[in-house]
Amino acid sequence: MNQPTLDIEALRADTPATAALLHANNAGSSLQPRPVTETVLNYLALEQRRGGYEAAIERQAERAAVYDDVAHLIGAQPHQIAISDSATRAWNLAFAAVPFQPGDRILTSTSEYASNYIAFLQLQERVPVTVTPVPNDETGQLSVRALANLLDDRVRLVAVTHIPTNGGLVNPAAAIGEVVADSPALFLLDACQSVGQMPIDVRELKVDLLTTTGRKYLRGPRGTGLLYVGDIALETLKPPVSDLFGAQWTARDSYTLRADARRFELYESNIAATLGLGAAARYATEVGLRASWSRIRSLAGRLREALTAEPGITVVDQGQVQAGIVTFTVHGWQPPALVEQLRSRNINIWHSTVESTRIDMEERGLQSVVRASVHYFNTEQEVDRLVEAIGSAR
Ligand SMILES: Cc1ncc(COP(=O)(O)O)c(C=O)c1O
Repeated sequence: MNQPTLDIEALRADTPATAALLHANNAGSSLQPRPVTETVLNYLALEQRRGGYEAAIERQAERAAVYDDVAHLIGAQPHQIAISDSATRAWNLAFAAVPFQPGDRILTSTSEYASNYIAFLQLQERVPVTVTPVPNDETGQLSVRALANLLDDRVRLVAVTHIPTNGGLVNPAAAIGEVVADSPALFLLDACQSVGQMPIDVRELKVDLLTTTGRKYLRGPRGTGLLYVGDIALETLKPPVSDLFGAQWTARDSYTLRADARRFELYESNIAATLGLGAAARYATEVGLRASWSRIRSLAGRLREALTAEPGITVVDQGQVQAGIVTFTVHGWQPPALVEQLRSRNINIWHSTVESTRIDMEERGLQSVVRASVHYFNTEQEVDRLVEAIGSAR
């Protein structure tokens, strides 16, 4: 099959900031393409002209289409999608809905994001459950064999981060889904760094629940996120709290939950941002996830290779499949100082500390790493400039 190609010039023209800015912080927050920003601004202008409720009525069809577009992006159906204001909110809503019983077990990844792990600890204050990070295999990704050995009937939830915040690693989500599907556990995938970066199909991954954010590789507005709830989970999971949108107050002493995943939403939301999220999902689909993924990996590979060749720089990425996040340490530099130094030269990168992924960082003896995360709109020249800038900063 032919390798899909992208029109990088056109994509950069859609991303005006690229003219002056080398943006390699897409794992933090990417640059919005023009159609996303325009969608948000146009809706805000409509609210200003018409009033909030009236604008919402006028754009009802567009708002409904967001669920189609987002669902299409991840191989889901519109009734399985809830929109939230962040990945963490979406993840917590799903997690809080799982009916944990004393003695239940949670299996997770060593590179689980801090906010997810804090939720495990908070649950443990209320319900005696055990939390076990599944060991990694020799490549550094979650060991599916170890997971299979740990699974038993008491495991209520397998919660795994697909692409960790602190490295290029892609955990083997499809193989994990395959193993979990044979058990009574639910599979919750934190796909915060993978949606928009690589093709995602919830049916292939066999996830029950999936969460992501809008602002990262999806290139949507800040303050957006989404939750996918598969049909089996929809039958059983109730949101911890509902309002009159997620549930209907049917009689003095009773209420009925919505049948679809929007039972996890509230009445009030940022409609401009939601429409922007839909525009981002459409844009990602139009660009093509296969082509995006291939280019991101190629740029990240170039970056890793060049950084590895630089004296004093240690690339610390792990995994069998590596994505657009490139992490490294630079001898003599604290990561935040290097980030600051490059920002003053219009180059955006970021850093990641032990507080974000404690188990993984402690196991590898890392306190803090520099994180450069490339997107398809970056160029080979930018990658080379980035390496040169890091090299000359030392
Ligand atoms: C793997 C992972 N999960 C969750 C989050 C949280 O996303 P949000 O800030 O949208 O809640 C992040 C953010 O960096 C992340 O990298």
